[in-house]
Amino acid sequence: MGEEVRKHPIIICRCRDVTLDDVLKAIDEGCEDLECIKRRLGLGMGPCQGRTCIPLVIGIMARRLGKKPDELLIPKPRAPVTPIPVSLLLKSVDVKVEGEGGDENA
Ligand code: FES
Repeated sequence: MGEEVRKHPIIICRCRDVTLDDVLKAIDEGCEDLECIKRRLGLGMGPCQGRTCIPLVIGIMARRLGKKPDELLIPKPRAPVTPIPVSLLLKSVDVKVEGEGGDENA
């Protein structure tokens, strides 16, 4: 990967318009794992959720940092927030919920 001046940017993340130059600059400025690149550039956070760009960035980082691709941290998937009924929360603070034995006329 040379440092030549490119006439046209090389797009790494099509969803978020992140270029190869953006990725290389982030690495040179201290990003040494995917989480850092993701937070800094928004890469991998588009509609495809990084299916295209994450494998490319792993390869770029591995070459730039002299590491094996499997040494680089993969961003941890976060479980989606699961809705829970409010009554479940109220039980923990000992509040009577309408329809569960509470006095409806009080
Ligand atoms: S190409 Fe990067 S998130 Fe879709």
